[in-house]
Amino acid sequence: MALVTKAIKGTQDILPSEVYKNQFIESTMLEIADKFGFRELRTPVFEHTELFQRGVGETTDVVQKEMYTFNDKGERSITLRPEGTAGAVRAFLEHGLFNEALPQKFCYVLNCYRYEKPQAGRWREFQQFGVEMLGAAHPAADAEIISLANEIFAFLGVENLRLELNSIGCPECRKNYHNALKEYFEAKKENLCPTCLERLGKNPMRILDCKSPICKEISEGAPAILDYICDDCSAHFESVRKYLDKMNIEYVVNPRIVRGLDYYTRTVFEFVSTDIGAQGTVCGGGRYDGLVEELGGPHTPSLGFALGTGRLLMLMAAQGIEIPKPNGCDIYIAPMGENASYEAAAITADLRANGVSAQTDVVGRSLKAQMKYADKIGAKYTVVLGDNEIENGKANLKNMDNGEITEVELADLAENFMNFLVQQATLSLAESLDVEGVDLSSILGSI
Ligand code: HAM
Repeated sequence: MALVTKAIKGTQDILPSEVYKNQFIESTMLEIADKFGFRELRTPVFEHTELFQRGVGETTDVVQKEMYTFNDKGERSITLRPEGTAGAVRAFLEHGLFNEALPQKFCYVLNCYRYEKPQAGRWREFQQFGVEMLGAAHPAADAEIISLANEIFAFLGVENLRLELNSIGCPECRKNYHNALKEYFEAKKENLCPTCLERLGKNPMRILDCKSPICKEISEGAPAILDYICDDCSAHFESVRKYLDKMNIEYVVNPRIVRGLDYYTRTVFEFVSTDIGAQGTVCGGGRYDGLVEELGGPHTPSLGFALGTGRLLMLMAAQGIEIPKPNGCDIYIAPMGENASYEAAAITADLRANGVSAQTDVVGRSLKAQMKYADKIGAKYTVVLGDNEIENGKANLKNMDNGEITEVELADLAENFMNFLVQQATLSLAESLDVEGVDLSSILGSI
């Protein structure tokens, strides 16, 4: 039975009482991305395994250790996406979007799957918000996407984030770097983990990203890529920095950032927090100038980032940032008896059609039990509907906060209630602002 009533390790339910937080940050991020011209792209949750092997890279931890890969009933190897970039590039190619105006700008909110060791801030199913800009080689593009991430954090009021920046060069300048790394790790290879021993021959840069504590310690003394990048890559990096300086975006150069995915070239960056424990990288991204070509398309320099929404919410909670709660139930109609129940259903439907969040009894409760329920769901107003009220066409509207009663006409309750709510909200706003000399009736009259 335990298997049936327990979610799989590393996954989590987001309950109705909490989901408004996710909805708020998701819509905020999509809106900010929209301002920058990024339109939402939705791709399937699973893709051909080969896409990630070729896109993300055979020697990465993600591909070697963390993918949820299985054969479907047609014996195709399928993988649940571990990230969003490869799928975005696949869609860009499949739909010939390289023939459209470039750069193409996508944003997304998606669930990703990695078989990692679960801990605070690290799950096996997690959600990313991300952006991808395809067809932009200029350093201004790097600064633009970094500024997008920066604006998201600023808008949400997140503080104490360090933007770390590096350049990992192009395949040309990386050749020399690989040689230097090989030489360095060769001398220490008896202590490397078996996966890194394999990487030493194929892709020594991946050793820098290994999660094993010993490999991490060895990596600390390794040569830094910034000392090996070519003049073009160096000029690109300088220019990105100049844009960021001009835009007043603070950053530190961290020559140790290499990122965990193989497609990166030139600029890489991470937004890191020390407020949420070991998994402090809230956002990561960079350029991937060769990926579109690697997957069979035309040369299309591109870049993007992804941000873990779970980590972002943890960070906001740690910093005490309140997320606005959505409106609960505006009005609860409590019918007494069968006849009233039919009337209540009709009035509630009318209220909803007029934009009001309205509920009524759907389980046949006593009046007392209904009022208890209305209180639990936080109804702002209630109306008790009995045979008398229906006969007279009038009922009492009760303010659940202060007990105030207002008599209302049932015939136009649905039509008038929204206006009434707006008036109440305006009054309480004016009261809370405590503005003197403002003629409230003129404000209310203009609604
Ligand atoms: P990534 O660094 O692998 O990059 O992941 C981006 C973000 O996703 C991380 O900074 C973190 O916030 C979140 N994340 C990653 N793994 C987990 C996990 N197991 N649990 C919770 N959150 C996690 C990418 O995925 C690239 N596709 C980003 C990119 C887009 N680069 C260019 N375009």
